[in-house]
Amino acid sequence: MENKPTFYITTPIYYPSDKLHIGHTYCTVATDAFARYKRLRGYDVMFLTGTDEHGQKIEEKAKAAGITPKEFVDRIVEGEGGILDLWKLMNISNDRFIRTTDDYHVQSIQRIFKKMYDKGDIYKGSYKGKYCTPCESFWTESQLVNGMCPDCGRPVHDAEEEAYFFRLSKYAKPVQELLETGDFLEPASRVNEMINNFIKPGLEDLCVSRTSFSWGVPVDFDPGHVVYVWVDALSNYITALGYMNDRYDDYKKYWPAVHIVGKEIVRFHSIIWPAMLMSLGEPMPKKVYGHGWLVIDGGKMSKSKGNVVDPYVLADKFGVDALRFFLLRTFPFGSDGNFSNELLISTINTDLANDLGNLVSRTTAMVEKYFGGKLPAEREADALDDELVSMIKAAPEKYAAQMDAFQPHLALEEIFKLIQRANKYIDETAPWILAKDEAKKARLATVMYNLLEALRVSLVMLTPFIPESCAKAFDQIGAGEALRTWDAACSYGALPADVEVHKGETLFPRIDAAKMLEELEQAEKAAKGPQIKVNPVLPDVSIDEFAKCDMRVCKVLSCEAVKKSEKLLKFQLDDGSGTPRQILSGIHKFYEPEDLVGKTVVAILNLPPRKMMGQMSNGMLLSAVREVDGKEELHLIMLDDSVPAGAQLC
Ligand code: ME8
Ligand code: MG
Repeated sequence: MENKPTFYITTPIYYPSDKLHIGHTYCTVATDAFARYKRLRGYDVMFLTGTDEHGQKIEEKAKAAGITPKEFVDRIVEGEGGILDLWKLMNISNDRFIRTTDDYHVQSIQRIFKKMYDKGDIYKGSYKGKYCTPCESFWTESQLVNGMCPDCGRPVHDAEEEAYFFRLSKYAKPVQELLETGDFLEPASRVNEMINNFIKPGLEDLCVSRTSFSWGVPVDFDPGHVVYVWVDALSNYITALGYMNDRYDDYKKYWPAVHIVGKEIVRFHSIIWPAMLMSLGEPMPKKVYGHGWLVIDGGKMSKSKGNVVDPYVLADKFGVDALRFFLLRTFPFGSDGNFSNELLISTINTDLANDLGNLVSRTTAMVEKYFGGKLPAEREADALDDELVSMIKAAPEKYAAQMDAFQPHLALEEIFKLIQRANKYIDETAPWILAKDEAKKARLATVMYNLLEALRVSLVMLTPFIPESCAKAFDQIGAGEALRTWDAACSYGALPADVEVHKGETLFPRIDAAKMLEELEQAEKAAKGPQIKVNPVLPDVSIDEFAKCDMRVCKVLSCEAVKKSEKLLKFQLDDGSGTPRQILSGIHKFYEPEDLVGKTVVAILNLPPRKMMGQMSNGMLLSAVREVDGKEELHLIMLDDSVPAGAQLC
């Protein structure tokens, strides 16, 4: 039996604390393209993704939802529209999916923790520090940025607990050496960042257990402690292969891995993870590639900002392949990229509809029109062919160099140079003129053949990116399975001379940008639900300051609109004093005056009197307000009519 070389590639295991967004999709699609590329190149690939299900944040979210943590993560991972569904939709070809709540993983984590403990690399101490709950990270004072978490910028709080520590300090030197070797960590710019920001200031031992919550892997030899979620999470890359468990037996075969991760977790993957592996006596990962972020208007996507982009909406509107393509064609993999729907539409229209789609449809249409769909075998070469043919021959090697360097956008650029060249070749050779001359049939067939070969080779290279569309296009140009392989891509002329084509459906229809942007706005709104603006709580006031506000219950004696004002209503109120009180309130947009007469409302009485539209207002009515989808909503505070006028609020 043939022994294929192996290749192991991973995504981060994502937190199932919310639905995933386009950023997670970006990383998984990129990793999928690399995995598919390696399979194309003849590797026995193991492609792993999964979910990181333990930790305080998930425990808290589940509590807020009134369900157990396991029920909570099950919903997000396996539920309808969950993470598994998203990867299926996006045509992700992962070979395995790990959940850190899987029994075999939990068992391995306990053994891994014990192994490092027995070695003396984990010891018991007490931890004092600053803790960021959303990031589940302890920080030292010096690591904080303006007193906030250096990763996410949110507030941290003091925390102290008895805890186990991992001797990270012991591994500072070998980790630095690893970082400095060749291309372990890429892009290269991240190497200095790690060394200068984390290693040079001195690596401190890492707190690797928690007692403040229970949703984690229990330390089996010390009940009450759970394993730090990053030790639990990072180990997934080996437990999923069967390391220290009986579930799988693939560790020897596939380890070490290439880890594709976002730049914010490079520190965990290139410092802590190698140190853990050194402690365990296991080989280092082959590579850590820290990709950039998709940002919106320069800022990171986040649920709390309400600017996350929903991959379900985009896949539905544009098609899975178009979305996959856009993500990898547009943004240099190591850098941040500014996501926008406009850019998405223009990329699809330019590259997929115009350049690729047109080449497929024009070429197949011409072969059908001029030759009834089947090329004659006669050929007549011309110097006009040389450049295109040599590009077809050179393309696979150039493309492979970029894919091997994890530069998908540059690999795609190579493909599109060829596609654009082929389109230009149509203009240069003018097949419609050749077709008028019976004596030029062989020449015309040669032109068609070269176009089909340019397409075939391009499609092989595009397969890792847009697999479904490529399969359809191969069918259209008459390239059977054997002509879709890497070897076939490297042999110009592999397509049979008398190939038969079948013009089919348009692969990538042109998108009407204005119409689509409108549709997207509607769809995103519907998917997100109402956007409610939540203001931060104001700074403290003392009880004395609060007590100075004189708020009383009032009955509405009369209410009328103020002339020439769209907003103002004029109230006469019984405030319990016996003398009617006049208050103006800008709430006509929300209430008709006749509906308020007789109501029991609340007013603050001791504000300075104010003149509005020539009328005095002696106080202010209290309302509850909020902003939904950018629109103000207002509810006048109304009490039960049994509450008497003049009763004071305190
Ligand atoms: O960090 N742009 O999980 P996570 C590009 N559980 N990529 C983005 C992105 C964006 N705006 N937002 C997220 C965790 N990502 C840990 C990982 S691994 C042992 C444990 C991608 O759900 C990017 O790859 O926060 C990032 O590193 C990852 O999602 C973080 O996912
Ligand atoms: Mg994160």
